[in-house]
Amino acid sequence: METNLSSSVGKQARRPIYLDYNATTPLAPEVAAAMRPFLEEHFGNPSSAHRFGTVARTAVEKARSQVAGLLNVEPEEIIFTSGGTESNNYAIRGAALASSERGRHVITSRIEHPAVTEVCRQLETEGFEITWLPVDGSGLVRVVDVAEAIRSDTILITLMHANNEVGTIQPIREVAEIAGPRGILLHTDAAQSVGKIPTDIRELRVDLLTVAGHKLYGPKGVGALYVSDGVLLHPLMRGAGQERGRRPGTENVLEIVGLGEACQVARHRLSEDMAQMRACRDELERGLCQSIPDVRVNGHRDQRLPNTLSISIRDINADQLLAAIEPLVAASAGAACHSGQVRVSHVLEAMAIPEDWARGTIRLSTGRNTTVEEVRAAAAAIAKAADQLRRGQL
Ligand SMILES: Cc1ncc(COP(=O)(O)O)c(C=O)c1O
Repeated sequence: METNLSSSVGKQARRPIYLDYNATTPLAPEVAAAMRPFLEEHFGNPSSAHRFGTVARTAVEKARSQVAGLLNVEPEEIIFTSGGTESNNYAIRGAALASSERGRHVITSRIEHPAVTEVCRQLETEGFEITWLPVDGSGLVRVVDVAEAIRSDTILITLMHANNEVGTIQPIREVAEIAGPRGILLHTDAAQSVGKIPTDIRELRVDLLTVAGHKLYGPKGVGALYVSDGVLLHPLMRGAGQERGRRPGTENVLEIVGLGEACQVARHRLSEDMAQMRACRDELERGLCQSIPDVRVNGHRDQRLPNTLSISIRDINADQLLAAIEPLVAASAGAACHSGQVRVSHVLEAMAIPEDWARGTIRLSTGRNTTVEEVRAAAAAIAKAADQLRRGQL
């Protein structure tokens, strides 16, 4: 049997249609080009005073400005990390521990990524109290619920900007207007929104914001955390004084350069990317809704990422559907089957999607490279497989 690796190396043209851009994105060509000299030539340590070091330092600071440019903040407010997970850990844990003298109450939602929920769970075991806000059927947190959850000892609200499974965009600015005057820190996990919708921090007014490089055509294993000037964070790691003493360890220069370039490209292409991703997503949605009986679209109709389509196909098993289409289409499931038991994702559960629908939920996400021809072919393949599964022919 051919291995995945040999098939992906040898048969580029035959690869399935990639509709999983929320899982990860390929490197943009501009990003690969910017990184190459740092892979092959510039190896210096940014902390070294000699010429090798200054080349690396200059590149890291250029990347910091590029990330800051996309978010419309000052470069000094950007810290480089190993990705979305570390940024979330540092923001939440760092803020909670640094503010624990003032209070030990944190507010979050039930539909966050595990890189947030698991950090909050850990804080619970350390004497912090967490309020897990519900969402409505479209995956939206109600701003009044946030306001009502606030107590005198609330120190932090962490609410994702856009949901990775259904794409619903939370009312972050409205939450900021409640949190700010009360002196409560607001963190948003923007791993899925940066590069897909505007993420201008002067608009969002958050104190902390998470960026993940590989979701916006940058490399995997690098990310950034925006930390508003003056916000105190308890460090996750101890070591030397890099990143203004906030994140020790020799900088990952190669990937930081890639992240910077990815942010610069995203900034220049944002409207074009949004229009193109939306056109393909909408075509896909139309195709599926027209050709499959008993299908529903999850997530908010308008407040939704332009590239994300979560659909539930009634009385279908998502794992079986994905396996059937795998040679043609790469997508993700909203429910997974383990040893005969179907486990619906916590997001669909929080949205109260009925189980006979939730079990047949797949997430399709378009990207910069998706074409209308691709989504038409994907819709036809999915509709055919769903029909065959329903007839018991697969
Ligand atoms: C919303 C969200 N937050 C955080 C992460 C984690 O990011 P990373 O893979 O860079 O650690 C992801 C990745 O799937 C995500 O979708």
